[in-house]
Amino acid sequence: MKKITVTTPLLPPIDELKTYLEDIWQRKWLTNNGYYHQLLESELCNYLGVKHVSLFSNGTLALTAAMQALELKGEVITTPYSFVATSHSVMLNNLTPVFVDIEPETFNLDPEKIEAAITDKTCAILPVHVYGNPCDHQAIQSIADKYDLKVIYDAAHAFGVKKDECSILNWGDLSILSFHATKAYSTIEGGAIICHTPEMKKKLDKLKSFGFDSDTELSLLGTNAKMNEVQAAFGLASLGLIDNAIEKRQQVAKIYRKTLADVKGIRYLEDIDGVNHNYSYFPIIIDELEYGLSRDALYKKLHENNILARRYFYPLITEFKLYKNNVNTVQYSNNIAKDISDNVICLPIHHEININDVNEVLRHII
Ligand SMILES: Cc1ncc(COP(=O)(O)O)c(C=O)c1O
Repeated sequence: MKKITVTTPLLPPIDELKTYLEDIWQRKWLTNNGYYHQLLESELCNYLGVKHVSLFSNGTLALTAAMQALELKGEVITTPYSFVATSHSVMLNNLTPVFVDIEPETFNLDPEKIEAAITDKTCAILPVHVYGNPCDHQAIQSIADKYDLKVIYDAAHAFGVKKDECSILNWGDLSILSFHATKAYSTIEGGAIICHTPEMKKKLDKLKSFGFDSDTELSLLGTNAKMNEVQAAFGLASLGLIDNAIEKRQQVAKIYRKTLADVKGIRYLEDIDGVNHNYSYFPIIIDELEYGLSRDALYKKLHENNILARRYFYPLITEFKLYKNNVNTVQYSNNIAKDISDNVICLPIHHEININDVNEVLRHII
């Protein structure tokens, strides 16, 4: 029986990709800041409405390099309600993640709880725009300004998201995107850092290429996190499809919301005024008592019917063995995050899902 997957990759038209590949074969330049790498960086600046983009081989290495670029030392305040890449990148930099709870309405880091977690070791705040929903950046920035902290946004889910017609990727000191195949826009594997100045862009470009200034000069302990030409071409050939793909996702979200509005014990996130969402995910939160089934029972039922919904983000980062009671972390009460994590399911949503499949998903829920 056909499986209804939570997402499907945004694939460029294969003939268009072939044209790019033929040119790459002619140029015989496969990586190291190639022609298509540079072109994708400038096309993304135009498309996203940002000043500087540095492409990376994935979002995790982009996050890791971002912290290195800001030369952080000490504690980084972040959210437990995310994919492990967020906190892993803090640990990989020998920094201490300080987990602070989320807001029940947005599932994003709660600015009201940040100040209580600030110590003389705090160097930065690392919020996540979970499911592409913008964080309360004004509140976060005013705390950062007050305590002289850096702000790095994990915007892995927030490709193309705007607030009041401006890209939310311009917020904070740096923002990180993931172009993993499961994301709304992809380069198969890939990622990027958005920054404000040419100097920072130069530093990030160095960090992803071993730290070289030139053939003979090396000023930073960089890594190898370069995006190759084939992936950059894949990204270029898909860029023209993304607006339509987001529109299709929006239609699916509308149907889910309309049908689930009357289902007791299920809640979902609404669109926020002034925000252009990308509809990357459709999380629902189950209240077992009201709904009559637990989250895990519904998850099982969906999977038994070939509906491959996912429990993003479960377990909570701080519940993984690696993090639980880890002396190299600081953990404040995470009651809200734990509750959301224990009751969330992300329903299938993507640009190719058809109305019959959406109705099939709903049939097993209502
Ligand atoms: C919130 C978040 N941050 C970071 C990442 C890491 O991105 P990548 O898979 O491109 O390394 C992901 C990936 O899925 C993510 O969901």
